[in-house]
Amino acid sequence: MKVTQYGEGACRDRLEHLRSQAHEILGEIYNSGLDHLNAQKIIALASDISDLVDERDFTSALREFQDYAPYPLTHPFMVAILGLMICKKLDWNTDRTLLAVGVGALLHDVGMTKLPERVIATHPNDLSPEDLIQYHKHCEHGMNIVAAVPSIPVAVQQIVYQHHEYSAKGFPHGLNNLKVYPLAKVVCLSDRFARFLILNQVGPIDGLKKFVASKEELRLHDPEIVRAFIKSFIKDEKAR
Ligand SMILES: [Fe+2]
Ligand SMILES: [Fe+2]
Repeated sequence: MKVTQYGEGACRDRLEHLRSQAHEILGEIYNSGLDHLNAQKIIALASDISDLVDERDFTSALREFQDYAPYPLTHPFMVAILGLMICKKLDWNTDRTLLAVGVGALLHDVGMTKLPERVIATHPNDLSPEDLIQYHKHCEHGMNIVAAVPSIPVAVQQIVYQHHEYSAKGFPHGLNNLKVYPLAKVVCLSDRFARFLILNQVGPIDGLKKFVASKEELRLHDPEIVRAFIKSFIKDEKAR
């Protein structure tokens, strides 16, 4: 584990800085496509977020972090933070795993760029049956986009493809949890929680209490990952 360098204020500043970096790089990718150059930037960003999550004062800094900015440019940043927090709590700590989850979370919705504007602009619940089929294809589009860039770790393809699979209720295949790639499960839970925060206009700490109160939601996910998710918000001084 990395030695702490930041105090709480500096940790908050760093969080803001990385958020604006995410906004800038994802904007570039959403406008001009994913290429070797911006893939390198995303990889470096994932590693910086991973380091920040290890800071002693990170949970306190997160307390004041609120992000209701328009989807999809900053939402993936929150998903990356949560995914990395969960992995670290699970001790899925190898550089390879952390990189796959960080990059997979940042790029999980990159396939949305292939969808018509009207599908992107409409909430999935309000889409026509035809447009819903198109929306469900964003996972496959995303997988193809990341597969075309050799510097993106191969594991990211599966994460992007399966980030809406949970409890046989998701898509594209309605897989049950046993069949879903574990790192995709981490990103799936992180994505659903990050969207819950936007929907309820709450920060992560207050949002956690509400989210955890929804037993129905928690039942959708792998219990081991849910436990790590909740514990990741609790400071563990001994481990730091
Ligand atoms: Fe998605
Ligand atoms: Fe998402």
